[in-house]
Amino acid sequence: SRMSRRSFLGLAGGLATLAAGGGGVALLFRRPAAVAADGRVSVTDLRGPDGPAPGGITRRHTLTARTAAVPLPSGGSVDAWTYEGQLPGPAITAMEGDLIEVTLRNVDIADGVTVHWHGYDVPCGEDGAPGVTQHAVTPGGEFVYRFRADQVGTYWYHTHQASHPAVRRGLYGTLVVRPRTGQELEELDLTLPVHTFDNTTILGDRAGRTIHVVRPGALVRLRLINTDSTPHRFALTGVTFRVAAVDGRDLHRPGEVREIGLRLPAGGRYDVVLAMPDTPVALLLDNDGNDGVLLRPAGYIGDDPAPPDVGDWPELDLLRYGEPVTAPFDVDHADRRFTIVLDRALATVDGRPTFAQTVDRRGYPSIPDHVVAEGDIVRFTVVNRSLETHPWHLHGHPVLVLSRDGTRSSGSPLWVDTFDVRPGEVWDVAFRADNPGIWMNHCHNLPHQEQGMMLRLAYE
Ligand code: C2O
Ligand code: CU
Repeated sequence: SRMSRRSFLGLAGGLATLAAGGGGVALLFRRPAAVAADGRVSVTDLRGPDGPAPGGITRRHTLTARTAAVPLPSGGSVDAWTYEGQLPGPAITAMEGDLIEVTLRNVDIADGVTVHWHGYDVPCGEDGAPGVTQHAVTPGGEFVYRFRADQVGTYWYHTHQASHPAVRRGLYGTLVVRPRTGQELEELDLTLPVHTFDNTTILGDRAGRTIHVVRPGALVRLRLINTDSTPHRFALTGVTFRVAAVDGRDLHRPGEVREIGLRLPAGGRYDVVLAMPDTPVALLLDNDGNDGVLLRPAGYIGDDPAPPDVGDWPELDLLRYGEPVTAPFDVDHADRRFTIVLDRALATVDGRPTFAQTVDRRGYPSIPDHVVAEGDIVRFTVVNRSLETHPWHLHGHPVLVLSRDGTRSSGSPLWVDTFDVRPGEVWDVAFRADNPGIWMNHCHNLPHQEQGMMLRLAYE
């Protein structure tokens, strides 16, 4: 990884001179936080509130980052980088309106560590982007994050410092916020992050199948979270279900579906809701009959069915799922428009021409910022000219999907924070610039991000 971090720095154009002075990597990430190159915004002032909303409470957590040998149920253990010595890190849950206060400490992660709240639109100073919103926390150091749980839904957190390989090695966990009132809560509510570690895929906190006994008729919510760098495919057998939410945001009137595959982009989340039938239900991962979740009806005495071959089930098209409602803003009159072209292209790395994952044939941070003003409606087009999928992720703002390859979204408004731009595709999205600061905008295939497939959205 030293090699690849050097490459990452090499793409940094103007920062190459810092690298030449020695300790270049450290300088890159310890650059005074919060100051855009041209000093536009001071992000460190953009911090969360001190207390919860009326009726809420303060939820305090400590995330101590350290290396640990974590045992796997499948036998053996993995040399992980962890929050609190566990894989995944502690599950953070809150009710809408609570204040979440997390103290991050670093024991021995030499590269430094942060916490980024993936998909959660926190004030910019809480966003955990090293070198932009804060300094990475080095061994012995500490940083306190504070933000209101004002978005209901399924999210996750991970370090943003040297994310590849640090996330893959285990620096991730889940964040779930439940509504305070007005919504019936499911009887069984499972948070299921999928993560691949040294060729072992973990769903939730274990490898292999987990079994839950469920009362027939009970409502069940499965929160699927992809913490890997490539997509996973889920299938739910033996039941009709709804995808109630994508990336934490509820869909409008999602219909019941069955025998359909769910392709979950890197970084993305689906909330799947079903009513438990009186026969078993299996959640299968990547068409592998050995892992996933089995829901067994209480009192059921039959055999668990063999998993069917779900490999040829069609894939749910979220651009045509659910029912439309009027967009909250007029996307045809955008105040700003940006287009980026993603490609594996020749870039200058360590002074030598090298193929790298690029944006407009450049690598971070030598890609010009996208500059917006607060209140702007921003139209953003992503063109993938490469042969690989790029899960595009914007911090601090959900984006509304307008179209994919010219086909307009015709289902429920689809608000996402990560969208999979497959080879050759063009995605058109829009968002409201309502969260001032400087935000990372990057490919969530983390090795691609490390090669420079990242830029910044900066408020003027
Ligand atoms: Cu999930 Cu920039 O990150
Ligand atoms: Cu990519």
